[in-house]
Amino acid sequence: MLDVRAKMAKKSGKKGERFNPAIDSVSKAGLPDWLKEAVFYEIYPQSFKDTNGDGIGDIPGIIEKLDYIKELGCNALWLNPCFDSPFGDAGYDVADYYKVAPRYGTNEDLFRLFREAHKREMHVLLDLVPGHTAITHPWFQASMKAERNEFTDRYIWTDNIWTSPKDNACIRGISDRDGSAVTNFFSHQPALNYGYYEITESWQQPMDAPGPRATLEAMKDVMRFWLSGGCDGFRVDMAGSLVKGDPEGKGIQLLWEDVRAFLNKEFPHAAMISEWGEPDRSLQAGFHMDFLLHFGPSHYNDLFRCEEPYFSSRGKGDVKEFVARYLSNYEKTGGKGLICIPSGNHDMDRLARYLTEAESKLAMAFLYTMPGAPFLYYGDEIGMNYVEGLVSKEGGYNRTGSRTPMQWDDTANAGFSAGSPASLYLPIDPSATRPTVKNQAERADSLYHFVKKMIALRKEHPALGNTAGITFTEVSYPLCYERFCDEERLTVTIDPKALTVEIRDGEKTVLSECFR
Ligand code: GLC
Ligand code: CA
Repeated sequence: MLDVRAKMAKKSGKKGERFNPAIDSVSKAGLPDWLKEAVFYEIYPQSFKDTNGDGIGDIPGIIEKLDYIKELGCNALWLNPCFDSPFGDAGYDVADYYKVAPRYGTNEDLFRLFREAHKREMHVLLDLVPGHTAITHPWFQASMKAERNEFTDRYIWTDNIWTSPKDNACIRGISDRDGSAVTNFFSHQPALNYGYYEITESWQQPMDAPGPRATLEAMKDVMRFWLSGGCDGFRVDMAGSLVKGDPEGKGIQLLWEDVRAFLNKEFPHAAMISEWGEPDRSLQAGFHMDFLLHFGPSHYNDLFRCEEPYFSSRGKGDVKEFVARYLSNYEKTGGKGLICIPSGNHDMDRLARYLTEAESKLAMAFLYTMPGAPFLYYGDEIGMNYVEGLVSKEGGYNRTGSRTPMQWDDTANAGFSAGSPASLYLPIDPSATRPTVKNQAERADSLYHFVKKMIALRKEHPALGNTAGITFTEVSYPLCYERFCDEERLTVTIDPKALTVEIRDGEKTVLSECFR
């Protein structure tokens, strides 16, 4: 089949600029070495920095701000999807996996971002959305046709329009093809066909049928294209849900093991992080890292985003269930990879919606002293607000308030864009006291300076590193834990009620802060 694949291979990016041998090697355990030191910064490209005045952030804007990110202490980026899309879900509805959305620039701009990042010893992860596409994707357009073609089985269709799938939503009535197409998230995101682990209906295909196999190969081609072009790996969207009819996750495990074998062979340095939220499964399946997130049984938001977050100085929160859950994952993953706890992301409320600046400092003290690679959502370093009352933008709904333009300084549009205010992707936070990089940098006791200090401390102390160990010694108010490696053993004490954080190396004080 796929002459398409051959065509795609030809489109492939520039080769040979991917690795810097000084920083890129793979440990025996299979973890690319750079991940051991990685501190990530997540960029929602729409809202970071606009360089051509059209009101939308772009890739040249990200390049312009690389030095800012590096100075903060972050040495790796995760970019939300930046591919061609009708933007019904902010780009998580891809229309062309091989093309940068024109509003962000060109493929060449993205390749240049990789090169500029590498020059600064930084790495870049792209967002891979393997589970579904936009309706406008040519694969789906072909799959909707009544006559059989190469893409008929690229998506999951029931065998007639009146049959809907039992366990998933579907789109129907928009094609000549007689059938309903399974959807994943929004109803305009048809699910790609990776097959069913357990077949219960005649229209379902096993994972090793030609259609599902071709889908997986097509996705490997996408990965190949960007990895050859200089990208350092992927954050994988909804990674745990590609295989259907798979209640115990056995099929999805097999699928990612297959991808792992491909990467080991062709791109052993590529880093893979899953949006899955079950590190015991994802790391076994060959991911290097998984997130603990706001969904699933993680209790992540007990700490940051609930009525009484643990880090609130009211002291009414609870950290026990989070720690129990964290430890059980930590033990199960047995040093196989990293469990990452982000400050937030494009899907959740900003930290500042629940925590004061002082409380956010405690949350940051926690995030930068935990194992796993830290992930900072753009703007969290200055305490950007969740902007209330916005009309949904590009499928953002309640998430829209966490996706507003980065606030750089006190010039027009907070330095985000030279465009007219009406042209901006989203309005700038209207608050008179909104934080900016400038006003935070000018104030010595700001959140920005504290985050910077914590990242620097993490780098100075191997015991605070991504792969160093952890033991919890007190799990209430305060929270105490030890971090250790061969070289040192540190004790971290965070007391939200007293608004204090202390890090000690035996008798020696490494950090002692009170934010009252
Ligand atoms: C993930 C993304 C989210 C997106 C969804 C569907 O959860 O983080 O933003 O809407 O997947 O792709
Ligand atoms: Ca722009």
